Amino acid sequence: MNIYRGLFLFLVICRIGFSYSLQLTSVTTRIQDGGKPAKSMVDCVVPEGYPLEEYDVVTEDGYILGIYRIPYGRNNSSTSRPPILLQHGLGGDSSCFVMMTREKSLGFILADAGFDVWLSNARGNVYSKGHVTLDPVLNGSKFYDYSFHELGYYDLPSVIDFILNKTDNTQLRYIGHSQGTSEFFVMASTRPEYNAKIRVAATMAPVAFMANTRGLFKILSHFTGFLDVLNEYFGINVLFKNLTNPWDATKFPASFIITTVGYNFMSAMSGYDGQQFNKSIIPLISKQRSSGVTIN
Ligand SMILES: *[C@@H]1O[C@H](CO)[C@@H](O)[C@H](O)[C@H]1NC(C)=O
Ligand SMILES: *[C@@H]1O[C@H](CO)[C@@H](O)[C@H](O)[C@H]1NC(C)=O
Ligand SMILES: *[C@@H]1O[C@H](CO)[C@@H](O)[C@H](O)[C@H]1NC(C)=O
Ligand SMILES: *[C@@H]1O[C@H](CO)[C@@H](O)[C@H](O)[C@H]1NC(C)=O
Ligand SMILES: *[C@@H]1O[C@H](CO)[C@@H](O)[C@H](O)[C@H]1NC(C)=O
Ligand SMILES: *[C@@H]1O[C@H](CO)[C@@H](O)[C@H](O)[C@H]1NC(C)=O
Repeated sequence: MNIYRGLFLFLVICRIGFSYSLQLTSVTTRIQDGGKPAKSMVDCVVPEGYPLEEYDVVTEDGYILGIYRIPYGRNNSSTSRPPILLQHGLGGDSSCFVMMTREKSLGFILADAGFDVWLSNARGNVYSKGHVTLDPVLNGSKFYDYSFHELGYYDLPSVIDFILNKTDNTQLRYIGHSQGTSEFFVMASTRPEYNAKIRVAATMAPVAFMANTRGLFKILSHFTGFLDVLNEYFGINVLFKNLTNPWDATKFPASFIITTVGYNFMSAMSGYDGQQFNKSIIPLISKQRSSGVTIN
């Protein structure tokens, strides 16, 4: 009897694995060389046929942010292109909006819809160019001494002023995701003059008050003392910066494990929603270089 159960389980696993590998083919063909490289902004945008510009923006407190622009989409015939700023969330970077296909990536969709798309990067992430006086490694504890408050108070206003100047506009549209919304709320309340520079703001998964949060983050919030230990005794100021997944997501067990672990990990953090979640993108996401989370 047990042997039949074992066989049945084996067949079920094979079946699931088979459909996963089929489902993954379209994504994994985009990850070349056995899933080797994390895609940079240039790798994400240029092969899709879009123009890409890069700028450095220096904040009032000296951080040098790398920001990107897709000035127009595949149809370049429209003359007036209103600027729109996309701000990533915690642990993310500008590539979050362009790492998928043209049809799925908000950055490309907006560029094709006639917007002048700007993609910002928070201080300290992999696209941030550092600081005018502080070295991220040598002066780590000073360099990483900030939270979402500084991202809202310093980074966003500098980026907005830069874009408005560059495009000769008085207002822009804003889309923030998660931490990108918290930053926006900080800016709009601590620097109210910036409200006049925003035509409209769209907040995706907005984060303002944490009291009703559930899931992994809520549980982890009881253990933040651990981060202080890392910080104080081990001199670690930033986690998960510039890491890539070493597994080859084009190979069956790796893709299956990455997908299953990735889906459950993300869902544990943000809530289970199988209907809204396209699992086949997980190997692609897992190949992106992680951008870092400061724990100061
Ligand atoms: C797109 O339009 C802009 C101005 O509207 C122009 O400067 C640029 O050269 C055009 N690009 C292409 C590829 O046609
Ligand atoms: C390009 O834009 C023009 C003007 O906005 C529009 O008439 C045309 O249908 C667009 N073409 C494509 C292929 O989207
Ligand atoms: C991230 O790591 C890659 C090699 O894995 C390296 O080429 C790149 O310079 C690193 N980027 C940063 C910002 O440290
Ligand atoms: C950064 O660290 C270096 C090496 O420890 C030190 O010489 C320099 O003064 C520090 N810079 C600042 C601004 O603290
Ligand atoms: C943009 O900034 C430059 C240099 O700071 C300034 O000369 C120019 O007038 C600004 N342009 C706009 C449209 O604000
Ligand atoms: C999931 O994503 C893949 C790759 O982008 C795509 O081919 C597929 O159509 C998506 N599935 C759904 C249900 O959107």
